[in-house]
Amino acid sequence: MHTFQPYPIDTVEINPFDLVGKRWGVVTAEKDGKANAMTISWGGMGCLWNKNVATVYIRESRYTKEFLDASDIFSITFFDEKFKSSLKYLGAVSGRDEDKIKNARLNVNHYRGIPFIDEGNFVLILRKIASLPMDDAQYYDPNIQKNFYPDGDMHTQYIGEVLEMLAR
Ligand SMILES: Cc1cc2nc3c(=O)[nH]c(=O)nc-3n(C[C@H](O)[C@H](O)[C@H](O)COP(=O)(O)O)c2cc1C
Repeated sequence: MHTFQPYPIDTVEINPFDLVGKRWGVVTAEKDGKANAMTISWGGMGCLWNKNVATVYIRESRYTKEFLDASDIFSITFFDEKFKSSLKYLGAVSGRDEDKIKNARLNVNHYRGIPFIDEGNFVLILRKIASLPMDDAQYYDPNIQKNFYPDGDMHTQYIGEVLEMLAR
């Protein structure tokens, strides 16, 4: 396993549009001692309720949602570009069908019991403070419902308090 160090949050310089939207991240959570992980490219970082927070948007159909719902803690791991094929794999295969983390040639590490992906280089360690189902949301742009939810596979927004940022 690699060694990760806490990174002071007030000195971090990242572009969240590039980091989440283009480089992607991996959400990891555990249930009954088993971890599951999936790729995300929608999410954000900011401040809410006087806390530093990160948000992710997880569809009802994702196996990872069961893990997020069962756990009070989760993580988002970010990677060097060379891991893009592993991230594509975690974003195409379901943990319901196979040990996808192993098959993506990745490993689960832990920070104070919180799971993350060891091959990453930057990690947000998060405490789940809210989950907001978006099925009753008002979408003012009609294209949102039409383009993203034609089959009713809605997102839940998970808001995590940033407990720690880790860097390798
Ligand atoms: C680049 C990329 C970004 C993705 N972003 C999201 C996302 O933000 N939210 C989501 O629910 N699914 C997203 N997905 C789809 C899930 O990663 C995918 O359905 C995954 O296989 C779910 O795995 P699971 O069933 O083990 O949870 C994304 C997939 C890719 C390839």
